[in-house]
Amino acid sequence: MIYENVSLKKYNTFGLNVKADRLVTFRHEENAIHFFEQNKGSNQKLKVLGGGSNILFTGDYHGTLIHPEMEGITLEGKTGNDVIVSAGAGVIWDKLVESTVNKGIGGLENLSLIPGLVGAVPVQNIGAYGAEASKTIEKVRAVNVTDGTLREFTPEECRFGYRDSIFKGELKGRYLITRVYFRLSTKPKLSLEYGSLKYELSKMGSTSLGNVRKTVINSRTAKLPDPQLIGNAGSFFKNPVVSPSVAEEIRLKNPRVPLFNDPSGGIKLAAGWLIEQCGWKGKRIGDAGVHDKQALVIVNYGNATGLELFELSEKVRISVAEKFGINLEREVEII
Ligand code: EPU
Repeated sequence: MIYENVSLKKYNTFGLNVKADRLVTFRHEENAIHFFEQNKGSNQKLKVLGGGSNILFTGDYHGTLIHPEMEGITLEGKTGNDVIVSAGAGVIWDKLVESTVNKGIGGLENLSLIPGLVGAVPVQNIGAYGAEASKTIEKVRAVNVTDGTLREFTPEECRFGYRDSIFKGELKGRYLITRVYFRLSTKPKLSLEYGSLKYELSKMGSTSLGNVRKTVINSRTAKLPDPQLIGNAGSFFKNPVVSPSVAEEIRLKNPRVPLFNDPSGGIKLAAGWLIEQCGWKGKRIGDAGVHDKQALVIVNYGNATGLELFELSEKVRISVAEKFGINLEREVEII
């Protein structure tokens, strides 16, 4: 379907009422291939927009937005305890998590309730509660938007990093992901080391997949605002990783700073904590605010503009740089 001069209010979780010149949606991969083949050589501005849960529009979008609506969750095969499940790029991520957990298939349970569509999962390499999507991704199918050619990416080719992949780097804007394949398990190794997950779970009785999902959902709903009620895009910044010596300098001045070992050998700091120390938690400028239960989340209380939200985020970023000498990197994409 092609929509002209369309409001993006329901296509971005900040709830901003901006417009796009054109929005093109695809239910089927073949239609996307056909569209991009036809479009080959044209220099119109194209951008893929998934669930809009990690994006901040600072004004109207002059160009064409591509929105995947490919549906379907398919059990592709089973060897021993391993199960391959695929999902269309337009499937709501949490529907996939729910459906696998309900079938006793594990691997995605810690990623319960993350907003967004399946197609964005490899781009952003979503993560929460000690799990990252990249650990389960088997294959990614995508169409090249410049000529309509189809390509399948192995996990190595996706070059996954912390909230990062080749689709955000070298191949940014080049591919529309159409389907993602996950390697899951009927005998999963649960990952319960994050925060108080294990303790919260112990209060539920059994450590079933369903209970891990419930625990994660309870924890998320307690801290993170529901985008249906208060516009937001989850964590606005990434957690910074610094050298052990920089972390030690900060710890000397702030003995209570939470520090986490990063697999890279560096030390991960909690951006939410740094922001809270700068006094921003629960602060509000007009309708743009810093969430009162998790300072890493910038919220729209109703009628903030994209520019106002961006300006607030910049004030936050500058205070953290001034107080701690740390430059926070955005997780949310600014358009
Ligand atoms: N903290 C504070 N003040 C705050 C927020 C956090 O002191 O306002 C401290 C907490 O006390 C804790 C530490 O910071 O010691 C970590 O906090 P939390 O467990 O809430 O997680 P986070 O590091 O702030 C990350 C992800 C979230 C994910 C949670 C849970 C990033 C950028 N964010 O947040 O992901 O849900 O862990 O696993 O890595 C997202 O990416 O959009 C997102 C919401």
